[in-house]
Amino acid sequence: AILIVDFGSQVTQLIARRVRETGVYCEIHPFNKAAEAFAALQPKGVIFSGGPASVTDEGSPRAPQSIIDSGLPILAICYGQQTFCLQLGGKVEGGHHREFGRADIEVLEPSALYDGIWEVGGRYPVWMSHGDRVTELPEGFKVMATSPNAPFAIAGDEAKKRYTTMFHPEVVHTPDGGKLLANFVHNIVGLKSDWNMLAYRQKMVEKIRTQVGTGKVICGLSGGVDSSVAAVLIHEAIGDQLTCIYVDHGLMRLNETEQVLTMFRDTYNIPLVHVDASRVFLRELEGQSDPETKRKIIGRLFIETFEEEARKLGGAQFLAQGTLYPDVIESVSFTGGPSVTIKSHHNVGGLPERMNMQLVEPLRELFKDEVRALGRELGLPESFIGRHPFPGPGLAIRCPGGITPEKLEILRQADAIYLDEIRKSGQYDKIWQAFAVLLPVQTVGVMGDGRTYEFVCALRAVTSVDGMTADFYQFDMNFLGKTATRIINEVRGINRVVYDVTSKPPGTIEWE
Ligand code: XMP
Repeated sequence: AILIVDFGSQVTQLIARRVRETGVYCEIHPFNKAAEAFAALQPKGVIFSGGPASVTDEGSPRAPQSIIDSGLPILAICYGQQTFCLQLGGKVEGGHHREFGRADIEVLEPSALYDGIWEVGGRYPVWMSHGDRVTELPEGFKVMATSPNAPFAIAGDEAKKRYTTMFHPEVVHTPDGGKLLANFVHNIVGLKSDWNMLAYRQKMVEKIRTQVGTGKVICGLSGGVDSSVAAVLIHEAIGDQLTCIYVDHGLMRLNETEQVLTMFRDTYNIPLVHVDASRVFLRELEGQSDPETKRKIIGRLFIETFEEEARKLGGAQFLAQGTLYPDVIESVSFTGGPSVTIKSHHNVGGLPERMNMQLVEPLRELFKDEVRALGRELGLPESFIGRHPFPGPGLAIRCPGGITPEKLEILRQADAIYLDEIRKSGQYDKIWQAFAVLLPVQTVGVMGDGRTYEFVCALRAVTSVDGMTADFYQFDMNFLGKTATRIINEVRGINRVVYDVTSKPPGTIEWE
């Protein structure tokens, strides 16, 4: 395995993504817990991430000495480069040389790090983002690549297998970065590709059997990919010791509930309790128009409903959750203060500890795209695995203001037409998330010879990698025109369609 020591970079997770793409297992641990993690994981190589601090600040993070002393191959990126060089006796200067964005580096020396990728004398684009820079290299280090603003773009000690880059190889803006990381992992550290989803599936099935024994497990299904993959995997391990609970809050899209029930009951034969709680949810949401209030009501009702059903099943000792690795990674915080809550998220995974059950979390080690790969491995249909994310509170947050059953029905129809058009035009997989929003605004229109006064529907589509930032998707105008015409013609209650061209930030993906 590879250990990634996190100094708090925004893109540390991408290092892990790139390493895993090479078929090698890795874990991220914060710098101040990395020594313990190192001892437990026994990695064959280590990567130091970037980070927001300046090594010239008092108390700024350092890499554990035990890791440096281990003599294992190390790749240190950006802040990692600075602290590593400093700790080995080099010098770093703060402040003046801020550099952000694309830079071209020139390769000066051959190195195992870019063997077969970059050539001496060549110039290659990379992505820089740093304020400080190394001004004096430690003993044994030499410069391998340089750029006008980054004299030590790559520097290292080939004999000791210690490499440092001032740029970020893990981001897509460093086009060859993934190959560089692969070289580090395979050629320098010497690890083979043995991290794949077939091996993971087998390992997890064993692990679940050992953990659960003859106990009973319940699992909340949301209709999303994570809980579904978790359920299928657990069912493979322990069969009917698993029962799934599907809390139907009445806020799902057109035909979605039926699809989930059919898939689990008929295709997978997984015992499934369908709780139709839509009336309760709609009743409690009646007259509520504040986004946070709506979210909180849904979250609370969900938990209450789930708990009640779990009680009725009697005596399950385990609760299964589709927790993913990004939720498990401990973040490195420098600000100290709490971050601002933009939206209180509701997930099936958010069940409280008061249920007093042990957790079964078979996806804890996986990133989202690995969950998809595991889903494929388990034979889940491609159309299901590739689905856009859908928020826990469902259509409630796509109906800004007060919710009524009538509005939800109008929204369902419009949303289904929009997604149908997206699928038919072959754009579904290019888009990260697309949906319709029913605005609480009525406008005047004219249809036939008559005046209409009906709702406005907003269409949203974004591209994104992780949902943290997003761009609006650039549809062709003819596509939008055609879709708008269909919605207005086919859905009673809508007489105007607009397209949302806001990115995130400053907008969020959902409207509430
Ligand atoms: P925002 O609107 O915050 O959304 O830009 C980012 C991503 O998160 C989804 N989302 C949620 N997912 N529970 C979820 O499971 C929630 O409460 C929730 N709220 C937003 C949203 O659909 C987008 O993919």
